[in-house]
Amino acid sequence: MNGNKDHNPLLEKIFEIIHNSPDKQITFAEYMDLCLYDSDYGYYNSEKIIIGNQGDFFTSPSLSTDFGELLAIQLEEFWQTLGKPSSFQLVEMGAGNGNLALTIINYILSHYPNFAHSLEYIIIEKSKALKTKQQNLLTNKFGNLIKLKWCDLDSMSDNSITGCFFSNELIDAMSVHLITFKQKQLQEIYLTENNSQLLTKYDSLSTNEIVNYFDTLSITFESETYPENYQTEVNLNCLQWLKQVFTKLKQGYLLTIDYGYNAQKYYHPQRSQGTLKCYYNHRHHDNPYVNIGSQDITSHVNFTALEKYGKFLGLSNLGYTKQALFLMNLGLGDRLNELSNGKISLTKILQRRQELHNLINPEGLGNFGVLLQGKNLIFRQSETSWQGFIN
Ligand SMILES: C[S@@+](CC[C@H](N)C(=O)[O-])C[C@H]1O[C@@H](n2cnc3c(N)ncnc32)[C@H](O)[C@@H]1O
Repeated sequence: MNGNKDHNPLLEKIFEIIHNSPDKQITFAEYMDLCLYDSDYGYYNSEKIIIGNQGDFFTSPSLSTDFGELLAIQLEEFWQTLGKPSSFQLVEMGAGNGNLALTIINYILSHYPNFAHSLEYIIIEKSKALKTKQQNLLTNKFGNLIKLKWCDLDSMSDNSITGCFFSNELIDAMSVHLITFKQKQLQEIYLTENNSQLLTKYDSLSTNEIVNYFDTLSITFESETYPENYQTEVNLNCLQWLKQVFTKLKQGYLLTIDYGYNAQKYYHPQRSQGTLKCYYNHRHHDNPYVNIGSQDITSHVNFTALEKYGKFLGLSNLGYTKQALFLMNLGLGDRLNELSNGKISLTKILQRRQELHNLINPEGLGNFGVLLQGKNLIFRQSETSWQGFIN
């Protein structure tokens, strides 16, 4: 199962990091971060990263412009509910190849000129390669039409954002700690090296934050309910990220779209192998120790953790729905209906119908979670509803 360093410079680098670490081991979270984001050889910095039909995986924005256009309708409503401030920031986090930004900005420019005037579009992107792609795509096109910039979350001033932080499939791409329940206790999975072989090893938890995490979620591991060798993931990075977003947001919204479960479902005893998945050449499998640096590694999002930690920080939970309902509320149904009145060819109608259905497929993208959180919103929540979240 384990990687061999022959001809893999990333694996050599990982071995070096393991050797230089005090215990000659690194957590799975550190390993996953290197596999995905190493500045030289990580998957998201490689030539191989193509999001869409030509790549290892596709996302809603890579299917058609419908997702971004419908999302833009919701974003404009956020601007309105904040009282149409003359300076409003949209902060897209993890913008992939930049397609979603392209669609949203195009739609805002053509449908909401007043909103466009107030808008500053900010992108936060961890991958250097993708950031360059995004800049090539967007800078020339919109340079003079809209305020557009790239930033790091760390370097943003506190309370500097009035507007909306949002992401699509960001959190599933963050590295996670791998945890296992063995001999009646929680242990963590680490990576070590022996004879140029990457090996996994169990040891005590690397941080007490993992214990606090499960306490906060009221998840208790007991041998009566959880099977021996139960394995799951803990995304501590997203809690750190949430805290940073909270600190930077002065007033407005945080909108998170991703695949995931609530905590009870995520940590259900029957989900005994967790949610970690790898994507390589259009196929998914569950071995993160092969194709090192050439495959995507993801895990589901625990929406309860975002809600609970968000509330603890001071974010209000404004709504949670599924992508299918969210997009239908924003007008996807009208787009489907319009196909029957249109003057387009049957082939085009069928293609468009398929694109729209893919976005709301209950066994696929339609089942994604959409979570809306807010900070310092002065209106009473009961008096306001957001189009995408109408029940
Ligand atoms: C699965 S891709 C999704 C891309 C895009 N949002 C889409 O829907 O097509 C994940 C994206 O998040 C970026 N990313 C991961 N962790 C990040 C972080 N902590 N901050 C900013 N970007 C991050 C990745 O580099 C990549 O652009």
